[in-house]
Amino acid sequence: MDLRFCIQFLLCISLQFIFTLAHFDNYIIHMNLSVMPKVFSNKHGWYESTLSQVNITNNIQRSTSSKIIYTYNNVMNGFSANLSPEEHEALKTFPGYISSIPDLSLKLDTTYSPQFLGLNPYKGVWPSSDFGKDIIVGVIDTGVWPESESFNDNGMTKIPTKWKGKLCQFENTNNSSFCNKKLIGARFFNKGFLAKNSNMGETIVNSTRDIIGHGTHTSTTVGGSRVDGASVFGYANGTAIGIASLSRLAIYKIVFGLDDAALSSDIIAAIDAAISDGVDILSMSIGYYDNVSLYEDPIAIATFAAMEKGIFVSTSAGNLGPSFKTLHNGIPWVITVAAGTMNRESHGNLTLGNGVSLIGFAPYLGNFSANNFPIVFMGTCDNITELIKVKSKIVVCEDKNGTLFIQNYNVIKAKVVGAVFISNNTPHLASYPFPSIVINQKSGEIVKAYIRSNSNSSSIAKMCFRITSFGAKPAPRVDSYSSRGPAKRCPYVLKPDITGPGTSILAAWPPNIPVLNFGSDYFNKFNILQGTSMACPHIAGVGALLKGAHADWSPAAIRSAMMTTSDILDNTKEHIKDIGKGNEIATPLALGAGHINPNSALDPGLVYDVGVQDYVNFICALNFTQENITSITRSSNNNCSKPSLDLNYPSFIAFFKAENSSSRTSQEFSRTVTNVGEEKTTYVAIITPIAGFNVSVIPDKLVFSKMNEKLSYKLRIDGPGMTQENEVAFGYLTWQDEKHVVRSPIVVTNINFVDENIK
Ligand SMILES: *[C@@H]1O[C@H](CO)[C@@H](O)[C@H](O)[C@H]1NC(C)=O
Ligand SMILES: *[C@@H]1O[C@H](CO)[C@@H](O)[C@H](O)[C@H]1NC(C)=O
Ligand SMILES: *[C@@H]1O[C@H](CO)[C@@H](O)[C@H](O)[C@H]1NC(C)=O
Ligand SMILES: *[C@@H]1O[C@H](CO)[C@@H](O)[C@H](O)[C@H]1NC(C)=O
Ligand SMILES: *[C@@H]1O[C@H](CO)[C@@H](O)[C@H](O)[C@H]1NC(C)=O
Ligand SMILES: *[C@@H]1O[C@H](CO)[C@@H](O)[C@H](O)[C@H]1NC(C)=O
Ligand SMILES: *[C@@H]1O[C@H](CO)[C@@H](O)[C@H](O)[C@H]1NC(C)=O
Ligand SMILES: *[C@@H]1O[C@H](CO)[C@@H](O)[C@H](O)[C@H]1NC(C)=O
Ligand SMILES: *[C@@H]1O[C@H](CO)[C@@H](O)[C@H](O)[C@H]1NC(C)=O
Ligand SMILES: *[C@@H]1O[C@H](CO)[C@@H](O)[C@H](O)[C@H]1NC(C)=O
Ligand SMILES: *[C@@H]1O[C@H](CO)[C@@H](O)[C@H](O)[C@H]1NC(C)=O
Ligand SMILES: *[C@@H]1O[C@H](CO)[C@@H](O)[C@H](O)[C@H]1NC(C)=O
Repeated sequence: MDLRFCIQFLLCISLQFIFTLAHFDNYIIHMNLSVMPKVFSNKHGWYESTLSQVNITNNIQRSTSSKIIYTYNNVMNGFSANLSPEEHEALKTFPGYISSIPDLSLKLDTTYSPQFLGLNPYKGVWPSSDFGKDIIVGVIDTGVWPESESFNDNGMTKIPTKWKGKLCQFENTNNSSFCNKKLIGARFFNKGFLAKNSNMGETIVNSTRDIIGHGTHTSTTVGGSRVDGASVFGYANGTAIGIASLSRLAIYKIVFGLDDAALSSDIIAAIDAAISDGVDILSMSIGYYDNVSLYEDPIAIATFAAMEKGIFVSTSAGNLGPSFKTLHNGIPWVITVAAGTMNRESHGNLTLGNGVSLIGFAPYLGNFSANNFPIVFMGTCDNITELIKVKSKIVVCEDKNGTLFIQNYNVIKAKVVGAVFISNNTPHLASYPFPSIVINQKSGEIVKAYIRSNSNSSSIAKMCFRITSFGAKPAPRVDSYSSRGPAKRCPYVLKPDITGPGTSILAAWPPNIPVLNFGSDYFNKFNILQGTSMACPHIAGVGALLKGAHADWSPAAIRSAMMTTSDILDNTKEHIKDIGKGNEIATPLALGAGHINPNSALDPGLVYDVGVQDYVNFICALNFTQENITSITRSSNNNCSKPSLDLNYPSFIAFFKAENSSSRTSQEFSRTVTNVGEEKTTYVAIITPIAGFNVSVIPDKLVFSKMNEKLSYKLRIDGPGMTQENEVAFGYLTWQDEKHVVRSPIVVTNINFVDENIK
């Protein structure tokens, strides 16, 4: 026996050893239905039979034969099952097997909006859509707290007949008394979770009840009924109302783990069920990292079928900003939502011993009874030892160059009574836990002068909190946590698509889950959260309103209407800024086309529509194998005769990578717009230039003579190659007639995606 053989032999043994010890795991299997023998009356029977043969032929011993977790009906041809690696390998040799993907674990995107969006009961999209009256919104999330006042169905008409969902699953039973004309369905999907965690069965309640809070918050943001006097301990006092307050809510619970995670097998089953039940809109504040290909991403796979059925799907961009390429759900057939701030801010009031009072930004929502504590100036607050010496006082810190975050950390660590930060940055301190106020330089000088004037350290001050201000400027801004594009595995479509309110969002909350903790837990029926998770349901809600007003619009038409009419200016009439990039102008890689403007979206003039075959043409151009294309489209014979990466999208992104700046590059795009505005009208093209680049449009005039007429144009970008790292240049193309402004962002960048390691 030579040495090489010996090593191989050992390797072989150890490999087998690994196999016998290997864990069972969940797999999602794509099957070829055209191979199904006629003896089977349904696909479930065929899948079961195949799986049992896998066990017999391979003499695989397990206490129970491997069982199917789910058979999928709408979103894919196939099933999920808990298999050993051997069983999985054996299955691949059976007729009809096409491909399989692992059961990934996906995470939720957590970390008075209607008025801010300009929604008005008397004009615009609210009355035009009847508040989304007969639109059914499916929310895939952590479940729901059905007793919340936000699910009251006062004055609602009977459930539309298109609703096929019968289940209202709570507390281990089907009990329709938990549902009503607002909350019309509630289902849970935990079979994949239980197959993977077989030891947890007894501890998992088989119920759609929300024990985390996230799903109650997102679902009431989309479609909660009106509730007056909603606030979190006095802050954000006002009316809580969903974006589409008369829409119907169908809840699909998919989170059963303790870490806000959900499995693909359960998510695919939930979307499958939502399609059977008859939802019009889906809201999903969840996603996987975009490091798996579209054909392995459960959301990409399942939402393709939803899109084919005309369902508008809103997804969150993720909370991994502000770096580029942090976005997930960069899927061409959904809308991908970034998160911004609103004009509502939480303020605090600092009153000095001499009676002067100063107002500043203060996210603290506790009760603070600091009547006249000593106040002391501590410079840059960078020495914790020094801060601990004055912990019984209110400390004043000066933010010299963006050190606010560290200062905040230091004062909390030193456990001082309270802090006043002098800073011109509006910070993004996490809400709640620490009593602090951020004041500007001008107010800071007043505080410092007061402290100096009391040389015998007799300076005193008091602070109070929870003052709701609606005057924050500038607003909106893209928040720093919001994930940025480009979508690295599919960069040919500019993502994110749009920004919605995501910071400081008040919505319903389960009354038994704490909203604050100041030593002990505090409970409330509403809570304030932030994240792209909160922005996503706002866009789903607007989708419900637009669908209510325009029943015939496709999901792509709804997305186009939102994008081309969105706002790029803030409430100071300047370009929307990016908190994550030092309040510089937000690029479309952070903002998308702009910030949602629901009333404008009602009447966009033109839309960029995309049909199913257009998406197939796009997928065909991605150089996937036929199996991989089938994984998404479910069709065994995809028409790939016209592959094209140039999707008819209401935005443009060109990659101009170059070794040296003397080389010139160019890219051309083709687009077709559909007239949904006036019958006879003429649009002219206006280009917001991009410095250094030549952008041209041919033709630059579109003359329409009837409704739904389609006209095409070409946009061409010429320019130097970009050589500096991560350059991003952008401008806009706007088609304008007398009434409408149809704007699309144009990005030119050299951000590298080609060498990304995508499976
Ligand atoms: C509810 O009804 C469905 C369909 O009739 C059934 O499959 C399920 O076992 C029932 N029970 C629970 C707890 O959902
Ligand atoms: C259904 O739920 C209602 C409200 O919680 C409860 O009163 C009733 O007993 C439940 N019915 C069943 C069959 O569990
Ligand atoms: C939930 O249902 C699963 C089977 O679907 C079962 O194993 C488990 O015991 C149930 N959990 C509870 C708490 O009843
Ligand atoms: C909340 O607003 C209502 C109505 O404007 C007012 O009556 C109430 O006092 C307010 N509550 C707080 C805590 O500010
Ligand atoms: C994707 O990225 C995440 C986070 O970096 C990592 O945990 C995960 O294993 C990656 N998945 C794949 C399939 O590469
Ligand atoms: C701040 O507090 C002072 C003193 O308590 C009070 O007079 C003043 O009205 C308060 N200002 C605001 C805006 O609440
Ligand atoms: C603050 O005080 C109010 C009124 O006394 C009380 O209802 C609330 O629970 C307190 N909140 C906290 C966080 O202590
Ligand atoms: C912090 O202050 C202490 C005196 O209170 C001093 O000994 C120490 O060196 C200071 N640390 C730094 C990092 O400046
Ligand atoms: C501010 O930044 C400058 C340049 O980076 C540095 O030299 C200076 O020490 C910083 N000041 C403070 C207070 O951190
Ligand atoms: C597909 O493959 C062709 C030929 O290798 C290549 O030119 C093209 O860039 C590839 N497209 C994508 C999207 O990778
Ligand atoms: C993708 O294509 C590769 C190569 O044909 C294949 O091995 C893999 O199973 C396919 N995966 C899916 C999910 O289609
Ligand atoms: C499915 O089976 C049919 C008939 O055998 C075959 O023509 C087709 O290529 C298969 N599709 C895939 C994706 O394997």
